[in-house]
Amino acid sequence: MGDVKPAALKGRALTKIYKMGAVEVTALDQVDLDLYEGELVVFLGPSGSGKSTLLNILGGLDQPTSGEVRFRDHDLTHATDRALTTYRREHVGFIFQFYNLIPSLTARENVALVTEIASDPMHPAEALALVGLSERQDHFPSQLSGGEQQRVAVARAIAKRPALLLCDEPTGALDSKTGILVLEAILRVNNELGTTTAIITHNAGIADVADRVLFFGDGRIVETHVNQTRRALAEVTW
Ligand SMILES: Nc1ncnc2c1ncn2[C@@H]1O[C@H](COP(=O)(O)OP(=O)(O)O)[C@@H](O)[C@H]1O
Ligand SMILES: [Mg+2]
Repeated sequence: MGDVKPAALKGRALTKIYKMGAVEVTALDQVDLDLYEGELVVFLGPSGSGKSTLLNILGGLDQPTSGEVRFRDHDLTHATDRALTTYRREHVGFIFQFYNLIPSLTARENVALVTEIASDPMHPAEALALVGLSERQDHFPSQLSGGEQQRVAVARAIAKRPALLLCDEPTGALDSKTGILVLEAILRVNNELGTTTAIITHNAGIADVADRVLFFGDGRIVETHVNQTRRALAEVTW
């Protein structure tokens, strides 16, 4: 990145310790991290290295044992549950491995559930077009492939125009070809809306189109790769 962008999220000395009886597990160990406005960051690393724990803390789903997180001017570490709920609802779009669509609602209605309570949402049709599902708006989840269902979940996450898009193994339940379509939808959102995006994925191909790749090991960020130029989607060999 040539120009210096402000940080949307700042994490400082983030530590998370789980206590199970007499056993303590250090899931995160003094992690410092900035996510800059508009960038795309990929988290890579072995299972159990702390990726999900960090993403959940950044998204206000969990609190660190110690350390601080700030979103723009907001201190999330000392926030009330109510303030964290507001933060998640207004500013964060989440995508998980499982899509959690409501089976009795069409694709458009699943997206509309979110846009109805957002302050400046896009039209559900616009969100579905962005992920390439204009032709599938009136389909129910059972009439869609896994990859299409996950793209509905992407549309649902971004229709409220969140500042942050946090994705925890969004392609984990998909075959690689289908997974690529989902990653492409996420990349298009990042490109076209400028949504600050973090993705946990085992699909290393995405590392070339990211601004930065963070490698996790044992609850720490052990290495960071910065791509001086982001590769265009079409140039990526997956
Ligand atoms: N709710 C929990 N209770 C106890 N230990 C947990 C919990 N969640 C995660 N851990 C432990 O914290 C460590 C990091 O987990 P996680 O952040 O899920 O890693 P990753 O997403 O990289 O696979 C692992 O050792 C895991 O077993
Ligand atoms: Mg995980």
